[in-house]
Amino acid sequence: MDQDRETAAGREALRRELLAYGAASRTLNEWISGARALALLRAAISSGIFDAARTPSTVGEISAATGVEGPRVADVCLALEAHGVFERDGESYRLSEDYAALASPDALQSLPDLLAKERVLGRALESAASSQDAAFTELTSEDASAMALGVGMRPSSPTARALWASALAGMAPELYGLWEGGARHLEIGCGAANALLSLLATIPRLSAVGVEIDGGAIAIARRRARELGVDDRVELRHADARDLDEEASFDSANWSQQFFPAEGRGEVLAAAWRALKPDGYLLATMFGEPPGSAEALREPTGRSYALDRLAYGGWGVPVLGVEELREQVEGAGFEVLRTVSPPPNPLMVSRGIMLARRPKT
Ligand SMILES: C[S@@+](CC[C@H](N)C(=O)[O-])C[C@H]1O[C@@H](n2cnc3c(N)ncnc32)[C@H](O)[C@@H]1O
Repeated sequence: MDQDRETAAGREALRRELLAYGAASRTLNEWISGARALALLRAAISSGIFDAARTPSTVGEISAATGVEGPRVADVCLALEAHGVFERDGESYRLSEDYAALASPDALQSLPDLLAKERVLGRALESAASSQDAAFTELTSEDASAMALGVGMRPSSPTARALWASALAGMAPELYGLWEGGARHLEIGCGAANALLSLLATIPRLSAVGVEIDGGAIAIARRRARELGVDDRVELRHADARDLDEEASFDSANWSQQFFPAEGRGEVLAAAWRALKPDGYLLATMFGEPPGSAEALREPTGRSYALDRLAYGGWGVPVLGVEELREQVEGAGFEVLRTVSPPPNPLMVSRGIMLARRPKT
């Protein structure tokens, strides 16, 4: 009898332990499932299986289009169907409605570009605690280009262009009005020119110079400028922004400061100050504010902030709050007009803008 009771008590203790372990590992299991699903998506894209299913196709047709053996294709399709990436109709597979929208040529971001950027960020996070990574400006050209393509919305998407233009017109109407009237704009750290080309394609009287330290990114920016038909209004320079030697020749400048390591930021701001005309505008994109409470830290924006600190901080970029950035910009002689933080957009690293001006005298 006693033995039975002991066994029952032991079983109950084991049940409770298992339940507690199950509850504790729930979040971890979600992360693991997400990581596996992303790995599957990468495999589907890199093998061509994803693209082959843009139109309804059988396993045999996908195999013929990609050169992947039929049984492998069948297993990949099954796994993609299980994850809601593919839908099956009889013998054919095709992209699900969601993935067709995410992979459309007009989507706000290119799916492969987004995944490539996340791979670079993931590697930065994995090595974040071991040692100081290379500075952002010392990334391999492949990684710098992947970041440049993936951090913003693509200018070939009409929706992305409209979104970007209306966000800027709302946040900095005086600057937008100036651009519409015809102005010369400087993009400091233009990357693959996501933002710059969107503006040029939307505002016909705007002309610009983009300066980018990475050769791969500037080559992508030049190709995209030609494709969008705005290359006659933009000069894309492969150069260090610190070496800009124009004086008082731009009406406005945008500084993607979230990609500029601590060393050299003062020189970049000094170059921007010289290059702007008196009264010229300086825009700077911003990281979010540090979360104000333990609860806020655990919200999605708080988690993004903490991971940005780790990844970008590892690349030597100071993840500044509004007041710290204001101090730096004012320290370089600018007058800060305002900061605006629209609701967070998971597609953008930027959580807002600072608008400043080079004083008249
Ligand atoms: C990734 S882009 C930022 C986003 C860009 N404005 C857009 O719309 O996509 C920022 C770029 O600044 C560049 N950068 C950093 N330091 C630089 C410097 N000293 N001179 C020129 N470019 C620099 C980086 O290489 C990076 O490509």
